[in-house]
Amino acid sequence: MIIKNLTLQNFRNYERESFSFAEGLNVLVGKNAQGKTNCAEAVFYLCTGSSLRIRHDKQLIRHGEEFALITAEAESRFGRVCLQAKIFENKRELYVNGNKLARAVDFLGNMNSVFFSPGELRLIQDGPDERRRFLDISISQTSRAYCSALTRYLKILNQRNNLLKERDFNAVEETLPIWDEQLALYAARVIVKRREYLAALSPLAQDAHAYLTDGGEELSLRLDGHYPAGEEETQAKVLQELANARERDMRLGFTSVGPHRDDIRVSIDGTDARGFASQGQARTAALALKLAETELFRRYAGEAPVLILDDVMSELDLPRRKKLLERIRGIQCILTCTHAERVLYGTECNRIRIANGKII
Ligand SMILES: Nc1ncnc2c1ncn2[C@@H]1O[C@H](COP(=O)(O)OP(=O)(O)O)[C@@H](O)[C@H]1O
Ligand SMILES: [Mg+2]
Repeated sequence: MIIKNLTLQNFRNYERESFSFAEGLNVLVGKNAQGKTNCAEAVFYLCTGSSLRIRHDKQLIRHGEEFALITAEAESRFGRVCLQAKIFENKRELYVNGNKLARAVDFLGNMNSVFFSPGELRLIQDGPDERRRFLDISISQTSRAYCSALTRYLKILNQRNNLLKERDFNAVEETLPIWDEQLALYAARVIVKRREYLAALSPLAQDAHAYLTDGGEELSLRLDGHYPAGEEETQAKVLQELANARERDMRLGFTSVGPHRDDIRVSIDGTDARGFASQGQARTAALALKLAETELFRRYAGEAPVLILDDVMSELDLPRRKKLLERIRGIQCILTCTHAERVLYGTECNRIRIANGKII
């Protein structure tokens, strides 16, 4: 799938600007703080209905304005689709072909993207939160069912935590078992999907990693949690764990077990990479993960996603840069950088120069 054009209105530092994208490589060039990442962020927002950079949509609205509007036309093998997000301080409206959606989850899958920034290069070294976020965003783009299950899980988790925080032990004794039943149900759905996804991603990551390291090391991924095989069994196990942890959770004031605490285990040559890999190894593994995600999306959707490479080229050494460019050839890519010549080596591209929230 490709994004044909994008219009930003009162989005971040853009007042009003329209971009036309080519099928292959699109390069947004400009000095720092001009709006390159903002543009990349808007594309990502239309793919996921959320931003990678922030928690509150409010920051996306141009200072002094009431709402921001992102509009794009995308093309997939199913035809053209117009996607629009209207972002207010406390709510947002999502439109597909002019029709307002009742559920945000229906926005997903119209256009898929893989976002890659220096933050993602730290995916292996960073804490489990980042790896879970990678999983959640990635799986949600290919499975609305996952997104729904995860949303319900987090909502119930929040309610359970609120109850624990109140420290009303009678209320806890009475209501917790009811919450736990619900929590375990959605937990199991989340866990099973994550496990399936990682099982599919692992050989692709292995393949990309072998390509990046010339077959030097073995990379493998799996969900780092001890759950039995089936969904029902997993649900029973989570329920048991929640019951076992109940007293501790009451003391702590939050839920200490469940998929919101799980992690991805990344192994390089059989050793746990988190904490042990050198910076170079960790970056290469992260790059392999992102390339694998790209390939997996291609298999799920039958066509490649839009790749967004925000400022990553300058973070990679020359051989990795060249390998990356080679590997993504033919996939639509929106790449941001400050000096195109230094990172592209004459690769043909649609160059868009940005200064102060405007194309120049
Ligand atoms: N809500 C907003 N309203 C106005 N300007 C904003 C808003 N959010 C961010 N900016 C501005 O956008 C600029 C950063 O843009 P960014 O896309 O991150 O730069 P870069 O080109 O380096 O990637 C900064 O000057 C920042 O002040
Ligand atoms: Mg930037």
